[in-house]
Amino acid sequence: MKPIQVALIGLGTVGCGVYQTLHIHKQRLEIVLGAPVELTTVVIENPDKHQRIAEKAPISTDISDILYNPEIDVVFEAINGKEPAFTYLKQCIQAGKHVVTANKEMFASHGRELKELAKTNDVQIGYDATTAGGIPIIQTISQLFRANQIQQVQAILNGTSNYILTEMRENKLSFSTALKQAQKWGYAEADPTNDIEGYDAFYKLMILSELIYDKQPDPENISHSGITGITGDSIEKAQQDGNRIKHIASINYDKAGNLTAAIEPVAVSKEHPLYAVEGVDNAIHLKADIVGDITLTGPGAGSFPTASAMIEDFCLILSKRPAPIPIS
Ligand SMILES: NC(=O)c1ccc[n+]([C@@H]2O[C@H](COP(=O)([O-])OP(=O)(O)OC[C@H]3O[C@@H](n4cnc5c(N)ncnc54)[C@H](OP(=O)(O)O)[C@@H]3O)[C@@H](O)[C@H]2O)c1
Repeated sequence: MKPIQVALIGLGTVGCGVYQTLHIHKQRLEIVLGAPVELTTVVIENPDKHQRIAEKAPISTDISDILYNPEIDVVFEAINGKEPAFTYLKQCIQAGKHVVTANKEMFASHGRELKELAKTNDVQIGYDATTAGGIPIIQTISQLFRANQIQQVQAILNGTSNYILTEMRENKLSFSTALKQAQKWGYAEADPTNDIEGYDAFYKLMILSELIYDKQPDPENISHSGITGITGDSIEKAQQDGNRIKHIASINYDKAGNLTAAIEPVAVSKEHPLYAVEGVDNAIHLKADIVGDITLTGPGAGSFPTASAMIEDFCLILSKRPAPIPIS
């Protein structure tokens, strides 16, 4: 059977997870997809960092090695920031390749354009890894919530913030000590601004809004704050009232079709579906008109959880490809 050729852009935390999963699960993928998967090209920025991988897979700093290779069917993208990721994905789609991305910042701004471009070029785009890491929220909504009208989303979308709030409450750590601990364990970046100021949750909420409502709330009208203002005293006070402080991203959809959104710390009671979501976990609670209330919980980031979302997107994309024409 002809191999399915794939390429990878980015070989950091997420890219390495995809790289290793393609190797570790080689046999399983071949059974599921009906053909072996071959990693043809890995595009990175600094080749010196990747000498060990270069012995096993072709490494390049030139996107043309993907664009002008007609054998490559699917491209995984896991780099940071809007550019050059957006340009690369546009070019890959225009070259007739399916794409799978983990890049939330880029997709929150350019997701609509990329989805339309993919449609025009008759290719698929997978982006489950952009939102809540390993939780299959994008696939769940797009595949399984077609008749339901989702009226409300409430979600913990940033594992770093959730970890800090959990440590502050459980172990009585100060904000700065909890943040340092998160950095020590690799849960927070050296520059944690995106996580603790709520920008990371904002990108993910915009991606969910675009998917569910085909539009995004005006950022000017979003009540937006991170967790930097949370003190031990405010956590203690919430606890005395039987509550926990959680950093919650929410969207409400009213009967007139208006969206209101907020990203902020909220004191939630024991009965709230996000009360028991602790540590680096993420969770998304959906209220829909037929099914009622549903909560999906799981690992919101990390190498393998994020790779899991990308590999599942890849499998779904390939399951939709036309069956090969039998040779008579
Ligand atoms: N980390 C997570 O848990 C997680 C979860 C969900 C989504 N994401 C998203 O996934 C993406 C990757 O995150 P990460 O944590 O894996 O980042 P990372 O560890 O910083 O790795 C980034 C990778 O991108 C490569 N790169 C940067 N600029 C490039 C360019 N111009 N051309 C080619 N390669 C380039 C880097 O190459 P060099 O190695 O050569 O420097 C590096 O391999 C981000 O968009 C992030 O938001 C991350």
